[in-house]
Amino acid sequence: MQKGIEKVLVSEEEIKEICKRLGEQISKDYAGKKLLLVSVLKGAVVFMADIMRNITCDCEIDFMAVSSYSGTKTTGVVKFKKDLDINPEGCDILLVEDILDSGITLSYLRGVLIDRHAASIKVCAFLDKPANRQADIKADYVGKVIPDEFVVGYGLDYNEKYRNLPFVGVLSPEVYSNK
Ligand code: IMP
Ligand code: MG
Repeated sequence: MQKGIEKVLVSEEEIKEICKRLGEQISKDYAGKKLLLVSVLKGAVVFMADIMRNITCDCEIDFMAVSSYSGTKTTGVVKFKKDLDINPEGCDILLVEDILDSGITLSYLRGVLIDRHAASIKVCAFLDKPANRQADIKADYVGKVIPDEFVVGYGLDYNEKYRNLPFVGVLSPEVYSNK
């Protein structure tokens, strides 16, 4: 097992199956619409790269960057760090997220996009950690519901490390317990 990883939670094989399933569903639901995939940097880039290649209807992609985390804890305050390049007005937006945890990040972004007159806004989250939800938001497409554990890999980080793991694993508590 990789150093610092307690166990594998989502294997590479399961990730493939999830992306195929969600891609098929999204392709059906958005056929003929003006689909704009909006990914939240940096954690969701790996999932974005996989999900977009499983979508067969026309779509565009764009990125936003926000931050609300310090180590393994959400600060509850969302900071806007990079805006969209494409004007979202009239677009059917699908927010592509690595993980829906407290929901504070996505509910903030949803608010921003509503103000900019997006035609519709839905959420596609690779992982859903419902135990810690604080904002009133749910994902319309979910890869996998997971327990309340801090996970890394497949884009998800701990202090910018582990994003390159090809699977999702649970971080060993000793990695962050002494910090
Ligand atoms: P939320 O605003 O609490 O829903 O958090 C959303 C963001 O926090 C995610 O997009 C991740 O970047 C980060 N995050 C939440 N839980 C985890 C985790 O278990 N591991 C790594 N990052 C996480
Ligand atoms: Mg993220």
